[in-house]
Amino acid sequence: MKHKRIRIGLVGCGAIGKSLMVMAQKQFKDAFEITALCDLDTSKALALNKTLGCGKVTDFKTLIKLSDLVVEAASAKISFEVAQEALLKKKNVLVMSIGGILGKEGKLFEIARRNKKRIFLPSGAICGLDGVKALALAGIDRLTLKTYKPPQALKGASFIEKNKIDLDAIKEEKMIFRGTAQQAVEAFPQNINVVAVLSIAASGLVVPRVEIYASPELKRNVHVIEVESKAARLSIRCENVPSPDNPKTSYLAILSAAAMLSGVSDVVRVGS
Ligand SMILES: NC(=O)c1ccc[n+]([C@@H]2O[C@H](COP(=O)([O-])OP(=O)(O)OC[C@H]3O[C@@H](n4cnc5c(N)ncnc54)[C@H](O)[C@@H]3O)[C@@H](O)[C@H]2O)c1
Repeated sequence: MKHKRIRIGLVGCGAIGKSLMVMAQKQFKDAFEITALCDLDTSKALALNKTLGCGKVTDFKTLIKLSDLVVEAASAKISFEVAQEALLKKKNVLVMSIGGILGKEGKLFEIARRNKKRIFLPSGAICGLDGVKALALAGIDRLTLKTYKPPQALKGASFIEKNKIDLDAIKEEKMIFRGTAQQAVEAFPQNINVVAVLSIAASGLVVPRVEIYASPELKRNVHVIEVESKAARLSIRCENVPSPDNPKTSYLAILSAAAMLSGVSDVVRVGS
């Protein structure tokens, strides 16, 4: 008997959403069927619909009805609401804008448990969450994230605008932000989903400290994570190539979401 494919509804047809759906259709076509697309900018949803040759361009409420798995790749402004609505309607959800759920994730986990549904949070632009999750079981003493980005990758962030930082005037590496995970997410909502997922992986046992650097010589987005625990000391460095469609987004984030998608339907699970 032919097994039923998982129906995907995508919210946000930008750099991540577009590449992820193209990969899902090419590489995991036996497992998934893309049934619905929505975007604040309808022309983006229509263009992706044309590329894929499937899926219905629709509003968010209809999208939920047409999906088994809702993929959010839109904005931290709506990720909590998208996840909450999907879970309340008994759909699984994959969230990319993890910064938007930080501090409220417990509520989503509770709805997911109550409705026996799943919430997927990809590692995104970093690796090492397996180690962080494992160490969280023994206790974490310190967790720090240092992010280095080319100045243009930080453009438009509320922190930059509020503090009138002239990114074009930065000629050598400069620390422009230091603070907690929650402060970093609020200051750089489009840049710093990694700190949100790190915080959640650490089960809120420790408040990650974050430093953000503008580095004119860099061509890649670099994340350096240090974890101190009685069980181990971890040092993780990721040097990410930006996605061609959005310099704020690392290509690894797209691949990480694709790897998670493949895991949704697979019986084999490698790594913790
Ligand atoms: N988890 C991670 O490691 C990670 C890494 C990179 C980006 N992200 C996040 O993933 C999200 C998507 O990133 P991207 O590079 O594809 O961004 P993008 O700007 O290329 O695309 C976002 C798309 O969502 C649409 N959108 C925005 N608000 C919307 C709304 N209210 N309803 C429907 N559509 C809306 C936009 O029109 C756009 O087409 C962002 O929030 C980004 O911060 C997460």
